Amino acid sequence: MNQEWRPEEYTNGFSFVYQYGEDILSLVDLPRGAFCLDLGCGNGALTQKLAERGYRVLGIDGSPAMVAKAKADYPALDFRQGDARTFSLEEGADCIFSNAVFHWIDEADQPALARNLYRNLKPGGQLVCEFGGKGNTGTILSELGRQLEEQGIRYRHGFYFPSLGRHAALLEEAGFAVGAAWLFRRPTPLSGGEEGLRRWVQMFAGGQLGTLPPQNQERVLAGLEEALRPRLWDEQKHCWVADYVRLRLQAERKE
Ligand code: BEZ
Repeated sequence: MNQEWRPEEYTNGFSFVYQYGEDILSLVDLPRGAFCLDLGCGNGALTQKLAERGYRVLGIDGSPAMVAKAKADYPALDFRQGDARTFSLEEGADCIFSNAVFHWIDEADQPALARNLYRNLKPGGQLVCEFGGKGNTGTILSELGRQLEEQGIRYRHGFYFPSLGRHAALLEEAGFAVGAAWLFRRPTPLSGGEEGLRRWVQMFAGGQLGTLPPQNQERVLAGLEEALRPRLWDEQKHCWVADYVRLRLQAERKE
């Protein structure tokens, strides 16, 4: 899926993405000195956390702008640009860690992704990942679709948000043993007060919106806010709360 990443805006306005990712670091069970790949490392914030745990780390991201930001912020660490479906490591990893990445990869490419993860792990190596699960941000995306359709655009969000059973089966087919898996709702407060929902849409789901003239974009965003206010606006905290659902998995390469 094509997505234009704006590293400064992501780091300043959407820090929750990697801050929540800190929760899953505790699933990485490795001795100090083990080699851990942070796949889809973004701005490198979690790669740094993995390094602080004593691992040898490498961050790979598909976005050259994000890799440049990660290198600038963490010059002591190793980052490179690469595609999750095709990257190839010189040394098999003890662990591949990945937060909030796999839902960006088309469903048709998920088997190739799983096989590539397998190929790049040592036998017995761990996969620890979290991404959007079934129903993720469904309230926002279905209303966005309705609003875009009123402006003559047919909307299909295109994200991969699988059920737990479906993704676990896909990993097993690629040769993994799934040790643990969770699907859970994680209502997520957005920063930016009143502007938070529109900023989120513009950052993460705004591809087709951007094809409309500015006044029609404004109609979509205002219509979205009006329709979702009763369900997603928290008056006390004065913020929008996105209906995130996370799928978290821990698996091991057999052989
Ligand atoms: C997510 O991280 O869950 C997400 C990203 C983009 C669009 C929708 C959800």
